[in-house]
Amino acid sequence: MGNEKIETVELGNGGPRVGVQGLGCMGMSFAYGPTDADEARATLERALELGVTLFDTADMYGMGENEKFIAPFIRAHRDEVVLATKFALSVDPDDPAKRVIRNDRAYIRQAVEGSLRRLGVDEIDLYYMHRREVNVPLEESVGAMAELVAEGKVKYLGLSEVTGGELRAAQAVHPITAVQSEWSLFSRDIENGVVPAAAELGVGLVPYSPLGRGFLTGAFVQADKELAADDFRRQQPRFTGDNAAANAALLEPVRAIAEAHGATPGQIALAWLQQQATARGLAVVPIPGTRKRSRVEENTAATRIRLTEQDLAQLEPIAGKVAGARYADMTFTSAGRE
Ligand SMILES: NC(=O)c1ccc[n+]([C@@H]2O[C@H](COP(=O)([O-])OP(=O)(O)OC[C@H]3O[C@@H](n4cnc5c(N)ncnc54)[C@H](OP(=O)(O)O)[C@@H]3O)[C@@H](O)[C@H]2O)c1
Repeated sequence: MGNEKIETVELGNGGPRVGVQGLGCMGMSFAYGPTDADEARATLERALELGVTLFDTADMYGMGENEKFIAPFIRAHRDEVVLATKFALSVDPDDPAKRVIRNDRAYIRQAVEGSLRRLGVDEIDLYYMHRREVNVPLEESVGAMAELVAEGKVKYLGLSEVTGGELRAAQAVHPITAVQSEWSLFSRDIENGVVPAAAELGVGLVPYSPLGRGFLTGAFVQADKELAADDFRRQQPRFTGDNAAANAALLEPVRAIAEAHGATPGQIALAWLQQQATARGLAVVPIPGTRKRSRVEENTAATRIRLTEQDLAQLEPIAGKVAGARYADMTFTSAGRE
């Protein structure tokens, strides 16, 4: 495997210049079963060597543990990386299975201090609102985020799982650099409202779970039988029972296209997303998550694959046939409010 660096792109109008693929760090501390910490640290370094500069975490990944885990790497390479983290989500202390969302000004001001402390930095490059709590006016939340920019605690603002309308309203308060939402061959609901709004406003798109949480690579089929007891994917309707079996069959054309390109199915999924940038007229920087050097090599190599019109036509109908929603509760996603 060579050391050829991936290309770079400006993430949103006036945003930071980043490698066209970022790295999702969540799985290093949260959601996807046990982690080999040494290999995960080596993965961060390998990603940077290959030109990945956007590193993604959130305060809720392992309740602060993920921010602490990547902190030494971020500090060692402070000027080379674009550090993205998020606020808004936490767990209910009385019921750890329950999520709490807060977007009020007081909470945001407290959350940023926690992230800065855990990460050991003076400034967060890209600070996202992880989820929208609809009872808090968006103007209050984005206004509070804008204060953090003015105070030098945050450089750029982002939003996750907002609707196209919410993105427009936010942009009227302060420039938004990026929207981070789920987007992949299996999850295309954001193409209805969010993607066109982002393209029109010059906001970058950072697709999360671009490998369908690993399902698109063929790494697992039945989450409840194959994955660790605490793995988050066991709760997702599309990864269990009859849905999972039906969805695995949808990967056949992905496998065939992969074979024709001498690539893996996961690389085809990533190449498809990357090509949406030109098709839809906006910057697209997927953040596949991995804890393994070999996979970051495989994933970054996908940025050099060009799918043909025929490939794209074969991939087009897949999302419409997926059985089961991307979350058990869709009300916290943009699709749940559109
Ligand atoms: N904003 C939000 O609400 C939100 C929600 C979810 C995630 N995210 C962010 O998005 C990032 C990526 O999403 P994600 O981690 O949920 O899903 P993903 O990137 O679609 O898939 C990650 C899974 O795929 C596996 N994988 C990665 N590369 C692979 C390869 N080449 N071959 C086989 N398996 C491979 C990983 O396992 P290994 O780690 O073992 O390699 C992991 O289990 C997260 O890390 C997080 O930063 C944001």
